[in-house]
Parts: sequence; C-alpha cells; structure tokens
Amino acid sequence: MKKRVLKKGRFYVPTKDSKNESWISDEKIYGEAAKDPIKFWEKLAEEGISWKEKWKKGYEQKGEFFKWFLGGKLNICYNALDRHLYRLGDNKAIIWVPEKEDEKERIYTYKELWKEVNKFANVLKQKGIKKGDVVCIYLPLIPEVIISMLACARIGAIHSIVFSGFSSDALKVRVLDGEAKLLITADGYYRKGEKEKLLQRAEEGIKETKLKRTIVINRFDKKRALKKGQEWYDELLLKAGEYCEPETMESNEPLFILYTSGTTGKPKGVIHESGGYSVQAMYTTKWNFNLKEGEIIWCTADIGWVTGHTYLCYGPLLNGFTTLMYEGIPNYPNPGRFWKIINKYKVSAFYTAPTALRMFILWGDKWVPKKMDSLKILGSVGEPIDEVTWKWYFKKIGKGNLPVIDTWWQTETGTNVINSLPGVGPFMPGIAGRSLPGTKYGVVSETGRILKKGKGLLVQFPPFSPAMLRGVWKNEKKYKETYFKLNGKKVDYYITGDAAVLYPNGFIKILGRSDDVIKVAGHRLSTAELEHAIHKSKSIGDVAVVSRPDKIKGEEIVVFAMPKKKLESRKEERIRKEITSLVNTQIGPIARPKEIYFVEDLPKTRSGKIMRRILKSLLRDEELGELSTIVNKECIDEIKIKIKEGFKR
Ligand code: WTA
Repeated sequence: MKKRVLKKGRFYVPTKDSKNESWISDEKIYGEAAKDPIKFWEKLAEEGISWKEKWKKGYEQKGEFFKWFLGGKLNICYNALDRHLYRLGDNKAIIWVPEKEDEKERIYTYKELWKEVNKFANVLKQKGIKKGDVVCIYLPLIPEVIISMLACARIGAIHSIVFSGFSSDALKVRVLDGEAKLLITADGYYRKGEKEKLLQRAEEGIKETKLKRTIVINRFDKKRALKKGQEWYDELLLKAGEYCEPETMESNEPLFILYTSGTTGKPKGVIHESGGYSVQAMYTTKWNFNLKEGEIIWCTADIGWVTGHTYLCYGPLLNGFTTLMYEGIPNYPNPGRFWKIINKYKVSAFYTAPTALRMFILWGDKWVPKKMDSLKILGSVGEPIDEVTWKWYFKKIGKGNLPVIDTWWQTETGTNVINSLPGVGPFMPGIAGRSLPGTKYGVVSETGRILKKGKGLLVQFPPFSPAMLRGVWKNEKKYKETYFKLNGKKVDYYITGDAAVLYPNGFIKILGRSDDVIKVAGHRLSTAELEHAIHKSKSIGDVAVVSRPDKIKGEEIVVFAMPKKKLESRKEERIRKEITSLVNTQIGPIARPKEIYFVEDLPKTRSGKIMRRILKSLLRDEELGELSTIVNKECIDEIKIKIKEGFKR
C-alpha cells in the first residue's frame, strides 16, 4: 500500500507519493492567492466553470454587501450535468444505498441523472414554478432530493431544503418565511429499520400556509391515497418533456436558501447565489478530497444541512465525481454498516462528523475491518474534533496512513474554509488548519481590535470569499447586525460567531461558538429558539437554555425553568414531559433536552437579561467571573445545589 503520511514531531505531513497525487501540493498557493485574491478566484472561475457569458467585474463591495463575477451568466445544473455528458455520461453520478440491506442500491449515471432532472424541471415549470420562486424540499436521503435540487437550479427556482428530521412546526416556519410556492416531499423513509412517515408531517406543516401544491415521492412499497393538491412524482415524470433548457442565471442571482439557527428566536434564511458558490463548491471538493473523475466521495451529512448541499450534491457533481448517499443510521443493522459500505463500493473520500466517530469508538473496534484499501482521505466537519477522536479516526479508519482533514465552516460560508489541504498538510489533532487559499480568517479581541495572534473572535477579512452568504432572506437588518456588528458598532470584517486561537504562522484552532448557538451532535441549534418553544408552556414563567459538554455529542441541551408556581415533585415530572414534547413538536427530536432543572430564580442583570454565561460556567464547574452586574446573586447557590443533586428522570 502506498505510504501517504509521515510523522513529523506531533504532526503528520504528506509523503512525496501523496503530494504527487494531489491537486495542490505546494504551499506557495497560499501566498500567491493572498497577493490578489480576486484574481485568484477569477482564474479558478474561468478554468472550472462553463459560463454562458463572461463576467464584467470580479468583485465589488458596498458596505456589508458584495458581489462576485458581476454580469457573468451561468447555470449550476448545466455545470453539474450537461457539460459532463459527452465524456462522463456513463460514469456513476449517484450511488444510493438504502438502509434495508435486502433492498438493492440505486445507481444513476450522469446520463440517467441528466434525463430525470430535465423531466422533473419540466414538471416544475408545468406546475407554474418560475425563476426566482421558492420551492421547499422536505426529503430524506434518497436520490430524488438531488434530482429536486438540480431541477430547481435548472429553471432558476430557489430551493429551500428543510431537514426531514424537523417537525411539522419547523417546516411551517420555513415555508411561511420563504413564501414557498411548492413542496416536494416523500411518503416516508426508513430509520433504524422502521418506517418513518413523512407525508403526514408535511401535511401538518403546510396546513396554515398558502402553499397548495405538493409533489410526493413514493418510497414505500404501497402507495397511499393522495389528498387534494398532492401528486405522485413518478406519475408526473411519465408525462414530462425530455429536455428543459437551463435558465440563464446572473452570477449573483440566488441558488438556494437554507435556514439556520442564530442567536435570536427565528431561524434565518441564509441566501447563497449561483456563480461564486459554484466555483468554491467545485474547488474545495477537488482540493480537499483530492479526487479524480470516477472516484467516490461519501459525505455522511444529511442534505438538510449545508454540508449535504455542498459535499453530497453540488461539489461532487460539478467535478464529475461519484457521490454516495446512504439513507439510514450508522449502526443499522449493526455498527459495522458504514465500513461495509466503504469496502463494498470502494469509497475514496469519507467525510463525517466527530459525533459519529465518538459513537463508533463507543461501539468498539471489533466492527472496523482490518482493511479499507479504497480510502485515501478522511474528513471531519461540524464540530471540534478532540484529540482522542482524531487519533482513533487516524489509526483505526485511516490505518495510520491517511490524512485526517479537519474542516471548519458554516452554513454562511457555503463551503469549508479553514483546513489543511491533503497534499500540503500538516495534519494536526486539535488544529483545524489555515484559511483556504483566497480567503483570510483571523481573530479580533472582544472589543473588535484585530489581533496578530492568540485567542479571540474568529472573523473573515474582505474580500469575502465567493461562496459567502449574500443576505438573510427578507431580513437585511438581521444580515447586517448578525455578521457585521460587534457591540453595536459596524465592523469591516465578517463575524463568524466562533472563538478561536490564531497562531503566528496563520494556523487556527477552533474553540467553539462564542454566542448562544449550541452544537448537539453537529446539529446547529439556537438557545433562543429552544426557549421560545418552552415558553409555550403555561406553567413556566421564565426559562434559560444552555449547553453542557458531552462526551459523545459534543454538547447537550440543559434547561433551567422557573415555574410560575412552586411544583410538587409529581408535577415536576409532568412538566418535564411537557417541555420535551414542546421541543419535539416545534423543532424536532434532535433538540431534546438532556436535563431539565426547576429553579426558583435565574441570574439576571438589572435590565432583566438572563446571564446564561453564569449557568454555562456552573455546568462546567468553572470560575464564575464578574458577578457585579447580577441583581439576584442568591439564586446561584440554589442552582449550584440543584446541579450537584443531578438530574433524575
Ligand atoms: C461549528 C456546519 C470546530 C462552528 C458546516 C461553526 C466546527 C458551526 C467545525 C457551523 C470544525 C463546524 N471544528 N467547529 N471543523 N465545523 N463547526 O452552520 O461552531 O451547521 O460556527 O455548518 O459549526 O455550523 P453549521
């Protein structure tokens, strides 16, 4: 077997062989890109993407708003499919692996995928969907989710995907905010071997919205009777025209919106556009995973998150790679499933989240096969990867011979932007890497002063990279305030919401969120959104949600609730159930609180603001720091005792 990495001190570096096989093997690219990032991206845009019309200007910025490749015309679906047809038409585009082992996989070649996308694009048009309309996609991991995305992109419709694990209420909020014209969903999917019904949840979610049309994909053996406004996908396709001309999109016209949690109650619709996103999605996939046409990448993220958008769908297809998609959970029917899939289909690049890896560690090494020869690159995403997990990944899955790429990014950045390139390295447990060539991340102090090194708030300096969000759907104010305001003052850099350590050589260690966003098993949740859900309980006066570190999931949700009246312990249990069920129905099971404490009071400032910082420190057994702004310090002791007593369900 080819040796791919060498140990150098505490780190690993790529071998010569490995460098020879890499798209990028010289670290000079960082310096060159930094000299003129706009020119750098323009060159990539020119080489990598087929444009219908070339842009007039590379980059333009006005205050918080910026554009890339102005006047450039393209279509991302054309770039992901049509242009590959001649050379790669018979290559596999999608390998779909169902959860049930006795069910056959489904494979789409580029030609087959192109055919189906064209037909479905015609269906959407026939249903009245036009350029600029929002189409909501509420689908599990089945090939039709990629087909739907590409069909939308082909006709210039904006897709808004809602994670299929979200509740009907969460769907409703997103359909209303996006003013979606049509919903694409499925009758259901398989989860842990059970049938998970989706259509009912979808129906519930759109009941109180203006959306009247639903296209339903048939995943189960038997078709159920459809209601008014619902039509079967397969039946519509039978009648659809074969070719649909791709819509011409100006580079800065929206491609999709994706809702994500921030520090306020309502999720934000992050807007991504066509041109810059295409360029960056394509190159990060190529460079980070070092693949060649015909090779397979498996990104285990759900398509409902940005990782799925970029590394399950757009990135691999723009490059002509094969994307593998698995419907189910990692341990069905047993914890060997992932590795079996890798060996069976000969996956080259594997991209997953630390939480999944920590579960595998827990399940035991006996499930991991001795050989997984097809693998070349291992990627990690979504949350900090601790050293123990990194080393396990490196030793057990990578057999001590594969680069482990820790990739930092966010829904807002569109693609990963801090990492170590596989042909350059170094690969270091605990340190994500450096800013992707052509981007510049750094840290600032709490007051906004730019720091040369050390701990601070992670920010991006302009020019902002091509795949960056271009706004928050229908909420310009939120866009400006969330990303470009620090302590109420406008700043010239983009604020990520994370804290990090910057080393003098440009390497960055991510510390985690610096705001009230929680990452549970890599899922991004907002404390405010959770509190909003819990406030619906009539028995609760005030509530604070904070995170507690968790060995497997990274973070867990802890609720401190102030009941309106003192509760007997019998009643406590009932209200705990009520809180859990409120969270379940308004967000989904991923947001289930781990612990719920009932307290008499919550630490507050004079203006009544709850000091979540104190609660967080109490849960972590840390120094509490400055307490002078708290008016009701007495409550801290009570909370301390409650936490110490622990939580019994
Ligand atoms: C966190 C997921 C540490 C971070 C792609 C960020 C990470 C948030 C890493 C965005 C990483 C993502 N190391 N933390 N490699 N990758 N994060 O929008 O806090 O779901 O702000 O995008 O995940 O989460 P989102």
